[in-house]
Amino acid sequence: MVKIAVLGYGTIGSGVVEVLETNRDIIAKRAGEEISVKYILDLRDFPGDPHEELVVHDYKMIRNDPEVDIVVEAMGGVEPAFTFAKQAILAGKHFATSNKALIAKHGAELIAMAQERSLNCLYEASVGGGIPIIRPLNSCLTADVIEEISGILNGTTNYMMTKMSEEGSDFDDVLKDAQKKGFAEADPTADIEGYDACRKIAILTSLVCARQVDFEDIHTEGITKITAADIRYAKAMGKRIKLLGCSYRIGDQYCAIVAPYLLDEGNPLFGVNGVFNAIFVRGNMLGDAMFYGSGAGKLPTASAVVGDIVDIVRHKHVSITMEWKPDKVELADYRNLRNRYFVRTTADAAAIEAAFGEVSYVQAEGMDDELAFLTEEMDGYAYEAAAGKLDGILQCIRVR
Ligand code: HSE
Repeated sequence: MVKIAVLGYGTIGSGVVEVLETNRDIIAKRAGEEISVKYILDLRDFPGDPHEELVVHDYKMIRNDPEVDIVVEAMGGVEPAFTFAKQAILAGKHFATSNKALIAKHGAELIAMAQERSLNCLYEASVGGGIPIIRPLNSCLTADVIEEISGILNGTTNYMMTKMSEEGSDFDDVLKDAQKKGFAEADPTADIEGYDACRKIAILTSLVCARQVDFEDIHTEGITKITAADIRYAKAMGKRIKLLGCSYRIGDQYCAIVAPYLLDEGNPLFGVNGVFNAIFVRGNMLGDAMFYGSGAGKLPTASAVVGDIVDIVRHKHVSITMEWKPDKVELADYRNLRNRYFVRTTADAAAIEAAFGEVSYVQAEGMDDELAFLTEEMDGYAYEAAAGKLDGILQCIRVR
């Protein structure tokens, strides 16, 4: 019997307990032994909950209990999760987490600490919720040089963009709805400003580089500036607006960005709607692959966490190889990336063409007080130079 402690009894933590209970027999068969929850750590009490007797408030009880083999963290945030993770590993316990903020910041360090002690630190649920992506990158795709990863990595914003586009709903209403459904972070700023997607693409890029990519180095734009007018233009062009986290290999360097993009129908991410996430991976031997599924929510995320727990039980005395060293990667400037830009402006055609040269104008119903156009493909430096010569820019969205 393997005993675990679950830190945090919120959406994901309670999901982990539920998955372990619902699929108890099949999980025991696959792990090779039974898995039982010995403690649940939370600041709150849960009177009437069937597991209320497992709830403790003092982490020391868990850290100091030699019977606890695996600490499962689902609290979110960097602290105290990081301190608890280190203490667990120092006490000889394996560690599994769904916490992207923790892993983006300290993943390399925790993995190194675990590996030095023949322990495991696994974090499949930190990116893409229930979608397998960490394990594929870490094992199935090790024959490839990964040239591109582009993903819809945040369920909340994808849900919001889909609702705004399909139902013409208002930004604030769809945000409230996403929060009610348990997709959004406690503070939804992380979702709508792109910080959550940024941490996820930082983790994926770190795995691809096998070194530390600091999320602070990734240029990040959220969806807060996307308006109903932008969506109207997108529809007129047969495109959709999606918040993407992208990373590219450019020569020997890597470059990453999080921003809203206008996608064509031909783009594999075009049809990924609602709370679903998808991660497009291009390898130099593999070609293209897509990983698609439930990117947020209680049970999909908990399913990935429990998958990690099972893997840990199967590898109790050996560290699963994970190439992610703590030395830092210097990312290439995101302005090196080339794409077309969709621009809305109050300026006239003569001013537009003086700044950008030849452009393709776009029309949408009811947008009579402005002009909108698509530029030729250009890099970010060229866009900034041209945009600097044009007054009255209302919006600019990258196009893929
Ligand atoms: N708030 C995140 C999202 C949860 O919406 O994708 C899953 O990481």
